Amino acid sequence: MDRRSWYIIIHPMRFTGKGHGKVILMGEHAVVYGEPAIGMHLERGITVSLGVPSRGSPGKNLAHLDDRGREAFVAAARAVGVDPARFRLTVASRLPVGQGLGSSAALSVAASRALLRAAGETLDDARVLDVAQVLEKVFHGTPSGIDATIALGKGPVFYRKGAPPEPILVGAPIPVVVLLSGTSPSTKAMVERVRRRREGDGPGTDRILGEIGALVTEARELIRAGSLEGLGRAMDENHRLLERLGVSTDGLESLVAAARRAGALGAKLTGGGGGGAVISLAGDGRHAREIMKTLNLGPNSFMTMVQTPAGGAP
Ligand code: MEV
Repeated sequence: MDRRSWYIIIHPMRFTGKGHGKVILMGEHAVVYGEPAIGMHLERGITVSLGVPSRGSPGKNLAHLDDRGREAFVAAARAVGVDPARFRLTVASRLPVGQGLGSSAALSVAASRALLRAAGETLDDARVLDVAQVLEKVFHGTPSGIDATIALGKGPVFYRKGAPPEPILVGAPIPVVVLLSGTSPSTKAMVERVRRRREGDGPGTDRILGEIGALVTEARELIRAGSLEGLGRAMDENHRLLERLGVSTDGLESLVAAARRAGALGAKLTGGGGGGAVISLAGDGRHAREIMKTLNLGPNSFMTMVQTPAGGAP
């Protein structure tokens, strides 16, 4: 045998999955109580790779995760019938962690997709979400499911807990400037804060949650019609209601005020609050860049365009 002509190339087997970051345009917190919310994915996200074979212990194999991440991953691996000790897991993230931009949901969806590939299952969105919710419950306790739904990366969605997400056809691209406050809130703690407020003051809190839901339904029509001025006003009103719910902070209030002073059509906190990020609405891409220049936050601000994905809504 001519040894020069025989090669066996062994490709290490690797299963990967991606989850996207997110911004909630409107409806956070109220969505936990059955009201609708609107969110959009970010292109940037988190990729999880599962390499095999590996002979280390699960702890060593999952060294890229903290304790809660390990607990969540092991629970999800068991849910799809995969032995977590078989894999060496690596996580590559382009998302700021704990800034209200859905890093835990992105990780959950990425891990879910990688695990389902490793289990030989097809990546049906509903199944990906089922497994992602196993991780999300470890991270958040009682998530509404919106973060993981947006992390699928399928464009702007109108979401109501327990119902299939509805893609929104965007009338005109919506330029959103994201401002990072630099503080890392716990979504779980903020959801818990609203729950306690509601226990102490049911009708008052429910009225606020219902008003947020009504604004979200109105915002969907404004988005479809491409009415950015109307959407900006709805965002301002949504922020005022979130502030009344007790999930804003001094830092978020000053970012919102600065964005409005810089000419934003509307501004609000996004995600769980208690810190994290603010979103502000611009009239077009140029206006968004002007707002960023005026605010001068360097890498703590970036623009994202909310639009129907090329090829139409999925
Ligand atoms: C967090 O991004 C959104 C919340 O509404 C929690 C949830 O829906 O699970 C605050």
